[in-house]
Amino acid sequence: MLSANMVALAYLVASVLIILALKGLSSPESSRRGNTFGMLGLLIAVVVTLQLSSVQNYAWIFASIAVGGLIGGVAARKVPMTHMPQTVAFMHSLVGLAAVLIAVSAFANPVGYGIADAFGKMHVSSRIELFLGAFIGAITFTASLIAFGKLHGSLSGRPVIFAGQHLLNLVLGVIMIGSGIMFCIEPTWTPFLIMLGIAMLLGVLLIIPIGGADMPVIVSMLNSYSGWAAAGIGFTLGNNMLIVAGALVGSSGAILSYIMCKAMNRSLFNVLLGGFGGDAPAAAGGIKEDRPFKSGAAEDAAFLLKNARSVVIVPGYGLAVARAQHALKEVVDILMKQGVQVKFAIHPVAGRMPGHMNVLLAEADVPYDIVHEMDEINPEFADTDVVLVIGANDVTNPSAKTDPTSPIYGMPILDVSKAAHVLIIKRSLSVGYAGLDNDLFYMDKTMMIFSDAKKACESLIQVLD
Ligand code: TAP
Repeated sequence: MLSANMVALAYLVASVLIILALKGLSSPESSRRGNTFGMLGLLIAVVVTLQLSSVQNYAWIFASIAVGGLIGGVAARKVPMTHMPQTVAFMHSLVGLAAVLIAVSAFANPVGYGIADAFGKMHVSSRIELFLGAFIGAITFTASLIAFGKLHGSLSGRPVIFAGQHLLNLVLGVIMIGSGIMFCIEPTWTPFLIMLGIAMLLGVLLIIPIGGADMPVIVSMLNSYSGWAAAGIGFTLGNNMLIVAGALVGSSGAILSYIMCKAMNRSLFNVLLGGFGGDAPAAAGGIKEDRPFKSGAAEDAAFLLKNARSVVIVPGYGLAVARAQHALKEVVDILMKQGVQVKFAIHPVAGRMPGHMNVLLAEADVPYDIVHEMDEINPEFADTDVVLVIGANDVTNPSAKTDPTSPIYGMPILDVSKAAHVLIIKRSLSVGYAGLDNDLFYMDKTMMIFSDAKKACESLIQVLD
């Protein structure tokens, strides 16, 4: 068994590795290395924890690791990229449930967990930690399940709003905090269970008014909550590693939620109050009156592309749905071979989760040096011959700049309309995530190619080759 100092040192090394993992994950080039650091850090943390004297029943632990590892491994291989947000939501629910179960177990056996004196009286600080860990865990558990249901389509994505909702939440919140205070004064099962029950109910009530469209931000917020729940439980268990890892997850999730809100020009408060982005697109505006637009076939698009000096490709959610990234990469290879300069423009919230487009392009081996972030590429559109928008919509919508009445007014967009020609591959004139018509479709310089993204790329490959 390692000495206390050695354990502390090993936990420090694991914490540094986890911090390096987060840093690595901030860029596609370093993300593999970041993942390796993270896995190594967690391996050290688990091995060191397993040899602690407080760990006794190895049979249960290894059986759980085997079953959980098998389910996780199979799920990770099978889940399609487009289902990643709901998978992550489901994982967060498990973290929340784990925090609740540890809190229940610690409360049932405070002496065994070392959080009580010899007479079984729980330390006051432990009561507070237990209360915080349990209620954040309980809210995370049910809120993540609802987020999972909305993202997966098993529950309607529509915001569920009823009169007195905020008041009800406030009253429940007050009762929950009251039970928590009672628990901290006199730790008995009654206030503990009331607090847990209300926290679970609040998890549901806080998420149902939020539209399916805002779920990615919520998932990132729940990620943050699950981190704080783990940190709270780390205090209960007196485990520094859990406190550090939980705090890192908690703060990175909070920062990510903030970045996503900023890129959508929404405040976190506005997202939490809910009501935006149900599954009825027209609610946000929908297609306006019939307007003339130009449409063409793959041959027309190919003609423009191969005669261009510079092409910027704007991928969006439709590319992911169609799984068109590999076919698109072939189009890029052909164009580059023909001497066309090709770049990709990535909007921070293109797709349905952070880094969605970067992951897809990396999967198709698109070189990182031709993939550019919005701020970098926006000044270049005016000098671009052809922009190829593929399965993207909102992130190119000029109304975010020109129409103060638009729900996305103020959201930074890719300045696609400044290019000489715009080709848009999508199946129809339908709206995207924000439910808004897009003036770009009706511009003189725009040609719509109505097709599934993958089929369109396959046709382009045939015509260009
Ligand atoms: P969207 O605006 O959602 O538009 C995607 C378009 O893809 C749709 O208009 C759809 O048009 C088209 N499409 C769907 N399936 C297709 C297929 N098989 N082939 C070709 N096209 C297909 O996507 P975006 O431009 O990527 O914008 C992302 C939106 O999600 C933003 O509003 C953003 O705020 C929101 N959001 C993103 C995130 C993150 S972190 N990425 C988080 C929260 C919210 P058709 O039906 O006509 O084909």
